[in-house]
Amino acid sequence: MAMTKRLTIPRPDDWHLHLRDGAMMEGVLPWSARHFARAIVMPNLVPPVVTADQAAAYRDRILAALPEGVVFEPLMTLYLTETTDPEDVSAAHTSGLVKSVKLYPAGATTNSASGVANFDTVRPILERMAEIGLPLCVHGEVTRTEIDIFDREAVFIDEVLDPIRRATPGLRVVMEHITTAEAAAYASNGGDDLGATITVQHLMLDRNDMLVGGIRPHYYCLPILKRKSHREALVRAATSGDQRFFLGTDSAPHATDTKENACGCAGCFTAPVALSCLAEVFEGADALDRLAAFTSVNGPKFYGLPVNQDTITLEKGAAISRPAEIETGAGPVTVFDPGRPLYWRVTA
Ligand code: NCD
Ligand code: ZN
Repeated sequence: MAMTKRLTIPRPDDWHLHLRDGAMMEGVLPWSARHFARAIVMPNLVPPVVTADQAAAYRDRILAALPEGVVFEPLMTLYLTETTDPEDVSAAHTSGLVKSVKLYPAGATTNSASGVANFDTVRPILERMAEIGLPLCVHGEVTRTEIDIFDREAVFIDEVLDPIRRATPGLRVVMEHITTAEAAAYASNGGDDLGATITVQHLMLDRNDMLVGGIRPHYYCLPILKRKSHREALVRAATSGDQRFFLGTDSAPHATDTKENACGCAGCFTAPVALSCLAEVFEGADALDRLAAFTSVNGPKFYGLPVNQDTITLEKGAAISRPAEIETGAGPVTVFDPGRPLYWRVTA
């Protein structure tokens, strides 16, 4: 007899999410709010969210765009620039408005032109953040042209991340969207002050999925998909139950025509199917009992926030139907498709 498999877990949070602004934000927000209680909202708008005032205004726009009756808490992040004011950052933390500061190396990814070029310039802010316990979320890739795109994360750890952490004791750091065995190993050797998020696509796909038999622009994201052995290391980390690893979908919507393009944008829009995908990955690793740690427990613990009181239920059945695209006022956005059927659905 076929047994229905059912799993109830505390409602998940997304510790790395791009919501954009305006019509795009209005279109994608309901898809995250359906399943996730809270999200660390990335500040890489144009222009970026740099000051506390800008973060407060962005937060208000997100809350105003929520459908009637839907509860969702945006956790705001400031975009670190070389001219960021430590007093403004500190006040934004004290008031509870801001939960992290985001470090983009200048030019590393979508909308990162105002990021940091000289890491010594931001040392005073990092020291203040260590004092007040405000986490630094790091896009961990070097941007020097001579470094191969597949090596940029591993080089960043040695050249930038480790020196910053040594120079700034007590600084709480999230290694965001890790994609390599090197990053997973570095994170698991860290103390309680280190966390690492992992995306859905990096747990499901490797670079062959993106490049063999035709180029698949909807799998192009940054940091770029790596070889299979790295994906396997990430699955081991995510399913280990180790409290340092938690979910950051990095769901990053771009209008379909800007992805299917001679110079396509980086980012996968995974929010609608993230939990169906993750249940699949954890089941495949025989670790469904650790899904909650990854999606719902380890993240709040790192950020010093309570685990959500309410729950969601996932059920395994016939292959789910999912939209190929969602419509937004800023054009259609293609929904992440891992190239295989998904059997887990969120039922409640
Ligand atoms: C993100 C985006 O589109 O804003 N893209 C991506 O490929 N992940 C930026 C980022 O997180 O690097
Ligand atoms: Zn991102």
